[in-house]
Amino acid sequence: MQISLTRPDDWHLHLRDGAALATVLPHTARQFARAIVMPNLRPPVSTVAAAGEYRQRIIAALPPAMAFEPLMTLYLTDRTSVDDIRRAADSDFVHAVKLYPAGATTNSDAGVSNLRQCDRALAEMQRCGLPLLVHGEVTDPTIDVFDREKAFIDAVLQPLLRRYPALKVVFEHITTSDAADFVVAGGPLLGATITAHHLLYNRNAIFAGGIRPHHYCLPVLKRESHRQALLRAATSGSRRFFLGTDSAPHARTTKEVACGCAGCYTAHAALELYAEAFESVGALDRLEAFASFNGADFYGLPRNSGKVSLARDDWRTPTEFAYLGGDTLVPLRAGELLRWRMLD
Ligand code: DOR
Ligand code: ZN
Repeated sequence: MQISLTRPDDWHLHLRDGAALATVLPHTARQFARAIVMPNLRPPVSTVAAAGEYRQRIIAALPPAMAFEPLMTLYLTDRTSVDDIRRAADSDFVHAVKLYPAGATTNSDAGVSNLRQCDRALAEMQRCGLPLLVHGEVTDPTIDVFDREKAFIDAVLQPLLRRYPALKVVFEHITTSDAADFVVAGGPLLGATITAHHLLYNRNAIFAGGIRPHHYCLPVLKRESHRQALLRAATSGSRRFFLGTDSAPHARTTKEVACGCAGCYTAHAALELYAEAFESVGALDRLEAFASFNGADFYGLPRNSGKVSLARDDWRTPTEFAYLGGDTLVPLRAGELLRWRMLD
């Protein structure tokens, strides 16, 4: 059996830089026409000039004959100015601004410590129609790590949407039924991305027979009822849910340690993993809209014209990829069987 769909886009991706970029970019470019590229480099991509230079490095790292368009984002800080936002909106390559609450995740120390300091920037984004992408977790260490998304909705997101009712917002990598319900209840300017790993795994996967660092990401995997809610949202036919892998490469030696980095690497088989999730609830017919239409429509970009095909054909994923000199990158499902295979 085969299915064919319009070439998809990845609306939330970490490409890193330098040698890491060169390793991971071909995986994404093989599957996706475009991707929203996260700005959490060190230092963060917080100006249009930096985003333009990063974009050039991505294009230069593309293997010959691979077509791929990086859609750049700016990293919102307490110091992002109205001029920064205007320059972003006037550019033809910055498509959104990313809010990381300071300390919420990888390379978020330069993120926003007090959202009220961003009021002028947010007002200008609302005026220009530049979307805000949110990492939706509070950082208060007294709040249970599994409750931080729900707490963020109540303490930050709900009030933000009230203050800026015409701001376009993408609630990134949602992980709870609370977030899915919140998005469904929102208007046409509120969308959400959902990762393949949050559709396929619940939090038991982090502790299956021992601690599993390659299943640790942020926001952390949640209980099964939340996974089921995400599957229902992704396959509901709602046009405000779309594909965003949050594929986040980290070297093996930084994952398999006493204090390991957060991130699941899924770019090597992203579409296959989503197909498996959609098939598990008999909703393969909904995959194309989720992967190829909804995100483009939300961002106001044209839909892609090419096609990709997936075959129902078991294959074993590599156990690792060479990464950063002598290190390796361990993908999700390393060395295990996948049910779908993307055809070249
Ligand atoms: O698991 C994650 N990894 N979550 C994030 O928000 C950031 C990402 C990364 O950059 O590694
Ligand atoms: Zn991310």
